[in-house]
Amino acid sequence: MNKSVAHGLFDMTDRVVIITGGAGLLGKRHAAAVASAGAVPVLVDIKEGSVTEAAAQVANEFGCDCVGLRADITDASSVRTMVDGVLSRYGRIDVLINNAANNPTVGQSGGQVEWTRLENFPLAVWDRDLAVGLTGAFLCSQIVGTEMASRGRGVIINIASDLAVIAPDQRLYERGDRQPSEQPVKPVTYSVVKTALIGLTRYLATYWADRGVRANALSPGGVYDGQPDEFVARLATRIPLARMADVGEYEGAVLFLASDASAYMTGANLVIDGGRSCW
Ligand SMILES: NC(=O)c1ccc[n+]([C@@H]2O[C@H](COP(=O)([O-])OP(=O)(O)OC[C@H]3O[C@@H](n4cnc5c(N)ncnc54)[C@H](O)[C@@H]3O)[C@@H](O)[C@H]2O)c1
Repeated sequence: MNKSVAHGLFDMTDRVVIITGGAGLLGKRHAAAVASAGAVPVLVDIKEGSVTEAAAQVANEFGCDCVGLRADITDASSVRTMVDGVLSRYGRIDVLINNAANNPTVGQSGGQVEWTRLENFPLAVWDRDLAVGLTGAFLCSQIVGTEMASRGRGVIINIASDLAVIAPDQRLYERGDRQPSEQPVKPVTYSVVKTALIGLTRYLATYWADRGVRANALSPGGVYDGQPDEFVARLATRIPLARMADVGEYEGAVLFLASDASAYMTGANLVIDGGRSCW
């Protein structure tokens, strides 16, 4: 492939990309990935101050237009208002990255009852996690995807997880100071939300295939973000590449999925996990 072909395939000049959970660890990296190819990232998050700050950082780093908007993706009217704002400002939405989710820190609760265990898992947490990770992705896809379909062009990327394709290995979270019935575990909602996103991806991909809207999932493995050494070492033994991901290691995949480089790809799940799920 010559250089100009490569540039053309990945070129995102002036494409408007909505990224939910845009104030979080990976949201900013997704923005960097598309901004580096000329896109206009729109960061959306429930945390207003953080999302404004994140957008300013991206705009500063890439010299691009990048706006940060507050919206609660579990609330249809909040999503509608956000989308109307983006459309009145830019006139189009080319890519939606459903990235927001609740990401619980496992093993840090100090209470008597270990709430993460299935037997104790609170219904309120189940409802809250599904509302953000799944209902939020549905609402954004419904509202943004409908607009894309009416224009005959668009890309939806659902950020899933390696835990969309494998079960959590609960031995990773074991603590020496706890009885078996009090051991923390990866919450059931994480597996359920991420696996369901693959179903949503296939549904959207086929539903709008004839309207020019593609939908794919990206399933990342765990990103190193200062987790305890013992956890990091345990996890490394379960990964063929023997380490967690660096925070920037999904940028190439995001740009591939968002751009015309993936024009013949829809309904797929791109797994990037250092090989973990093949073991
Ligand atoms: N970090 C990892 O190791 C990792 C690994 C695999 C998959 N993932 C997935 O990647 C995505 C991003 O992960 P991250 O580590 O950046 O998470 P993060 O917790 O840093 O960011 C998530 C963002 O979502 C926002 N959010 C929560 N509820 C919201 C709502 N109702 N409306 C709008 N925004 C809301 C939060 O404010 C937060 O800024 C998630 O879907 C996560 O499950 C992360």
